Amino acid sequence: MRFFLLVTPFLWMLCEADVIVVKEMFGEIRTPNFPESYPSETEVTWNITVPEGFRIKLYFIHFDLEPSYLCEYDYAKVETDEQILSIFCGRESTDTEQSPGQQVIVSPGNFLSLTFRSDFSNEERYTGFDAHYSAVDIDECSERNDEDMVCDHHCHNYIGGFYCSCRFGYLLHSDNRTCKVECSDNLYTQRSGIISSADFPSPYPKSSDCLYRIELEEGFVINLQFDDNFDIEDHPEVSCPYDYLKIKAGRKGFGPICGEKSPG
Ligand SMILES: *[C@@H]1O[C@H](CO)[C@@H](O)[C@H](O)[C@H]1NC(C)=O
Ligand SMILES: *[C@@H]1O[C@H](CO)[C@@H](O)[C@H](O)[C@H]1NC(C)=O
Repeated sequence: MRFFLLVTPFLWMLCEADVIVVKEMFGEIRTPNFPESYPSETEVTWNITVPEGFRIKLYFIHFDLEPSYLCEYDYAKVETDEQILSIFCGRESTDTEQSPGQQVIVSPGNFLSLTFRSDFSNEERYTGFDAHYSAVDIDECSERNDEDMVCDHHCHNYIGGFYCSCRFGYLLHSDNRTCKVECSDNLYTQRSGIISSADFPSPYPKSSDCLYRIELEEGFVINLQFDDNFDIEDHPEVSCPYDYLKIKAGRKGFGPICGEKSPG
């Protein structure tokens, strides 16, 4: 009896530390002794890591664990480094406990941890589980939503990553996602002409820094007239904190101008 008392805590500590680090792109995870019944008082964790740009898909082709209320005795726990995704036990799902059935678990990131735990008895000789996992590519391009677009213009997914590109006439910003217009080098020398913001009448592109120069021969003055269709982002209290138009003519300066009212 004394021997038993001494040995049990030691074994428990040993089992607690049983973590198997897995770095393969696919594989099979089985309970100890599978397909024979699993040992009692066992805890094993498989920590699966796949490269960035991939997720982990996990499903069970066989599942047979001792059922218990809220899976408090034997269980299989699937978690990320931040949250528990599922706790399974039994053979079939009940109101209070879940068994995985045909469910396919997909990790939110490139890490997934699967823990198998059994308590002191496995009297009915439950056989445990046989799980399979594989790395699946994240299609970053199809995950865009309007709030947080992956790329400004074109998104290209490849296995393990993605990249952005821009429409003709635009340059990729150093953030590798935003497209900015190339418009800093415009010279107008004709006696009349039209200048409009990039993409006009569609919204102008973000991160733009455009310069338009008008230069005529000596003896002319320049008359600049704005269309009524004028719209530059403004602010109700602060004067043109985001976007603006500025005009310089010799020593004279106009602006910053913003808002919806055309300067005429
Ligand atoms: C395995 O994953 C668990 C859960 O995220 C973590 O607490 C533990 O430190 C990991 N162990 C190893 C050896 O990676
Ligand atoms: C953009 O891409 C280049 C080349 O692939 C890379 O060196 C750089 O670190 C990336 N910049 C950002 C902000 O991701």
